[in-house]
Formats: sequence, C-alpha cells, structure tokens
Amino acid sequence: MIEFDFTSMCSTNTDLLSRKDEVIEKLNNSYMSGWTKRIDDSLVNDIISTANDVKKHSDYLVVVGIGGSFLGSYCVEKALAPYFVDNKFKVIYAGTTLSSDYMSQLIDFLRDKDFSLNVISKSGTTMEPTIAYTLIKQLLEEKYSEEELVKHLIITTDPVKGTLREEVNNKGYKSFPIPDDIGGRYSIMTAAHLFPLAFNIDLKAFIDGYYSGSKYNDEAFNYAVARKSLFEQGKVVENFVVYEEKLSYFSEWLKQLFGETEGKDGVGLLPTSTVHTRDLHSLGQFVQEGNKILFETFIKIDKASEIKFKDYDLHNINNIVLDSVRVAHKKGDVSSIMITLPEISEKYLGEIMYFFMVSAAYSGFLFNIDPFNQPGVEVYKKEVRENIVI
Ligand code: PA5
Repeated sequence: MIEFDFTSMCSTNTDLLSRKDEVIEKLNNSYMSGWTKRIDDSLVNDIISTANDVKKHSDYLVVVGIGGSFLGSYCVEKALAPYFVDNKFKVIYAGTTLSSDYMSQLIDFLRDKDFSLNVISKSGTTMEPTIAYTLIKQLLEEKYSEEELVKHLIITTDPVKGTLREEVNNKGYKSFPIPDDIGGRYSIMTAAHLFPLAFNIDLKAFIDGYYSGSKYNDEAFNYAVARKSLFEQGKVVENFVVYEEKLSYFSEWLKQLFGETEGKDGVGLLPTSTVHTRDLHSLGQFVQEGNKILFETFIKIDKASEIKFKDYDLHNINNIVLDSVRVAHKKGDVSSIMITLPEISEKYLGEIMYFFMVSAAYSGFLFNIDPFNQPGVEVYKKEVRENIVI
C-alpha cells in the first residue's frame, strides 16, 4: 500500500473539508473526465502488437511530442530504466526543444539507423513537435519507400479532427486516438503514453496499477485540502522532493500537472522540485532558512537495491536522511507531506499517477478554476504565430 503522512503540516481549513461531495461531483460530471474510465482492452492489445511489429524492423523509436504529450511516458520510462546497463529498446524523445544542435545531431545519428517515428499531438498544431515531425519525417522519406514508410510512422492525435488526422486519412498511416474528453496532462492512460511505454515496461501492470489508484481517492482529496490550507497560510510554493535521481522527471511531470491545472486566474501553488541529497547542498539552504513561502511534499521509496555501507543498508541511510531532513525543515518552519511508495515499479507508479491526477482535479475545483484548460499557454503561441508562420 502507498502511505500518506500529513502530520508535519499546518492546520487544515475545515471549510474545505465540507466541499468534498461538491468536488467529487464536479469531477464525475466534468467534460474532461475520460481518464477516470477504463481504457478499452482492444486498444491496449493493438498498442502492444504495434510495438512488437515496430521492434521487428526498427532498432529505435523516435517519439515526438511536448507537454502533456511527452512528460508522462518520459517520466515513467526514466523511473523504470536501469542507471547503467541499458539493454532496453531505444526510445529517443524529440519535439520538446527548438535546439538546432539537438535536431541536427539527432538527424545525423538516425541517418544510418533503422528507426520508426511516433508523433504525438492532440491538436496537431503545436509548434515544437510540428517542426521536429517535419524534419524527422523528411529523413524517413529519404530512407524508405512509400510502402515501407507506412510501417515506420505512427500518428497519435485527435480521433476526428486536425492536420495529423487528415494525414492519417489521406495516407493510411497507423494511428492512435487521444480521446476528446482527455486533456494532455491527464492523458497518461492513452496511446500518447502507452505506445512509447509498450516497448520497455510491463504495460498491463502499469495500467492495472493506475486504475487501482482510485482506492486512494479519499487521500487525494485530503492532499488537495492540505495543499490549499497551506496556500491560504502563505505557503504558495510546493517543493516536490525525491531521493532517487531517476524520479527527477516524475517531479517534472508533477510540475506540469499542478502548474497547468491550478495556475490561472491569479491563483495556484507554484510547483518546484529538488533531488536529494544533491540539492541539500544548494536549495537546501533556502528551504531551511530562507523566505517562508514554501512547504514540501516528500516522495519516499520503502524498498530499493540492497548494498551495505559498514553496518548500514545504503537505502536505509537514504531514508534516515529523508526523515531527518523533514524534521530539520519543520524546525525551520517548513511543513511537509510525505507519500511512501513500497518500491518503484509499474504498479506503484500507475497508482500514484492516478492519485496525483485526481488530487490535481479536486484542487482545481477547490480553487474554483477549470482544472482542464490552459488558456495561458496559448498566449505565447499566438505571439509566436504573429512573428513566424510554421
Ligand atoms: O496539458 C496540456 O494540455 C498541454 O501541455 C499539451 O499537452 C501540450 O501543449 C501539447 O499539446 P498537443 O498535444 O496538442 O501538441
């Protein structure tokens, strides 16, 4: 079981607790709650068999997407990958940067490789993936005949509309849908993430874990209430703390989930992150003695690899440090919440992602904002469009 500890936090605003039925009903009736409903088994089987087909003719999968069409699969892939011996199928991510160094080196690298391309964009119009997709597809077209190309390109997009869907309809490329009632940062249980993940993880364990995360809906509500109570007491920054380097992208996923969900109409908590013990020697100073604007959410892992240092188990030392840091920070007037996963595995990553998504949605409703839109992201896109036509 995942465990939740709210004991090192400030007092709870009990008015928020009385809004429980209201926020549950709002999520149940929301136009964007598709991610709470079970994904079709036939789609999961199609995802797995398409991944198996790609493995037969390609050594690499290049995944192009950004934001909610990127971070979910990327963070799970990173969390489950071994640190050094990488004998897994190679999945390369592109489309999150306009770096010409990255793109030209990627294209040079891929030139003599057998690879397939999966472009992921719900709208089909996002600038960064559009550019990456166009450039990498050009290389695919140079390398493969039109007949072969069909086996090397998979498009994940809106089920009916948009330029990518039109391309699928015109050229007959393999495609997967991102359903209408599921937004980017809530799309982990769609092909946008499950297809890239199907290459290297136990997909079914991850999917089952995700849906079993609903058993923590009460805790998800309590977490949303705890965060909002802290926000009302001037703790407007939530620092996510991990003690395992390979979870650092999990924190990036959390930052997007909460930042895009809550940060609108002048409200919301600013999500930040640290990786310990490394960052105890940088931001740790600020947390202990600096401006008292933040609280922390620690993600603790109960069981990890065993290696002895003197009489101690090294992982035990890591967790003793975590507990001690929590106490030290509390002495510096920094409250914290702690979430303990039994281990890093498909099952528990699935469960905790569902927990955080439900909590983010509840939190949006507690803040009286729409948790599922992101109008602010459009502002920069519009500004760019005025200066360049992509
Ligand atoms: O969470 C979101 O909705 C956004 O982060 C989008 O996922 C991101 O902007 C990419 O959009 P699209 O999939 O349309 O390219």
